[in-house]
Amino acid sequence: MTLKEAGEQLGLLMGTAVMAKHLDGDLGELVAREFSVLTGENEFKPGRVHPAVGAWDFAGADKIAAFAERRGIKLVGHTLLWHQQGAGFLFEDGGKSVTREVGLRNLRDHIEVVAGRYSGRVLGWDVVNEAVSDDAGVYLRPTPALSAIGQDYIVRAFEMAAAADPGAELYYNDYSNEGVEKREKCIDVIREIKKAGLRIDAVGMQCHLLLAEPSAELIEEAISAYAAEGVKIVVTELDVDVLPRKAAGGADLSKKEMAGQNPYVAGLPGEVEEALAQRYAEVFEVFRKHREHVSRVTLWGTHDGMSWLNYWPVAGRVNYPLLFDRGLAKKKAYAAVMDVLRGA
Ligand code: G3I
Repeated sequence: MTLKEAGEQLGLLMGTAVMAKHLDGDLGELVAREFSVLTGENEFKPGRVHPAVGAWDFAGADKIAAFAERRGIKLVGHTLLWHQQGAGFLFEDGGKSVTREVGLRNLRDHIEVVAGRYSGRVLGWDVVNEAVSDDAGVYLRPTPALSAIGQDYIVRAFEMAAAADPGAELYYNDYSNEGVEKREKCIDVIREIKKAGLRIDAVGMQCHLLLAEPSAELIEEAISAYAAEGVKIVVTELDVDVLPRKAAGGADLSKKEMAGQNPYVAGLPGEVEEALAQRYAEVFEVFRKHREHVSRVTLWGTHDGMSWLNYWPVAGRVNYPLLFDRGLAKKKAYAAVMDVLRGA
């Protein structure tokens, strides 16, 4: 049985992030065999598809969309609006904020072109990514979109996405949003969208986890809190970092660390492999238990060698965060996930 089949029995989509360059050969076959939904790891981001004013590049995104269609796999569009890898020129001109009117027009043009191009072919869009602040007491992250348009830029983006791809699910996606304070801010985002009479189908919980934190209890509480708001939960970027780091969890790309230990270059010790498998099992127990509300779990990459955690927060390390090893073999963590999905 594959992850896709085991997930199907529970009504759970099993996903992986892929890059266009990963879809050929054995890796492409593995992806098509094991997963029911793909997310483009980078190819749909504003900075990739819309690199300059009036310039568009859909080569990578088209390749992923065509692969998904050919192999009968669903597709998630990631993302229409993000401050990283963004198309900064949508909201700034010569280093200065554009007016609200120009910001809204640029955002609408962007969303119409991107969501319009894949309209009807995408299960759902991460409409807005990582908009709430990590800082205590601050609601939204200061970004060019916020400066140009104002606080309702998220609501407006949802309105534009719904118009451009009416059949697609619409998600708000963030990291560390199992933590209580960030969770409350995400709930405010949901409420603002709904108050405006607009649709939000799910909250994306990225779930870039460490071995020991956040706790499974906290993840479970967050799922319940979001479900109580009347939205589904999609786990959008799951992985488990096994390497030491200074900062807490999360995925703030600006928080790079200049140095850090790289202890497992020669391989992952048995006890860490086991701890990783147990960690995957405990979070999948939570997803399984709440499958009425959790509709998808996507791993952020397919095999350890392609994970962003090999170069963040410390560049050039050897990490082991996923379910397949560098030779595409199933890890203990894969078996642990399978056991949970199959109720073994
Ligand atoms: O810089 C590294 C380089 O050091 C390394 O040798 C090389 C190996 O492939 O990759 C590098 O380039 C990076 C590239 O994508 C990988 O193809 C770029 O620096 C980097 O900007 C870009 O990183 C992506 C990042 O988003 C920024 O867009 C990661 O692949 C991607 O996994 C990451 O994904 C984000 C989600 O979109 C949102 N949530 C957090 C998540 C993890 O940061």
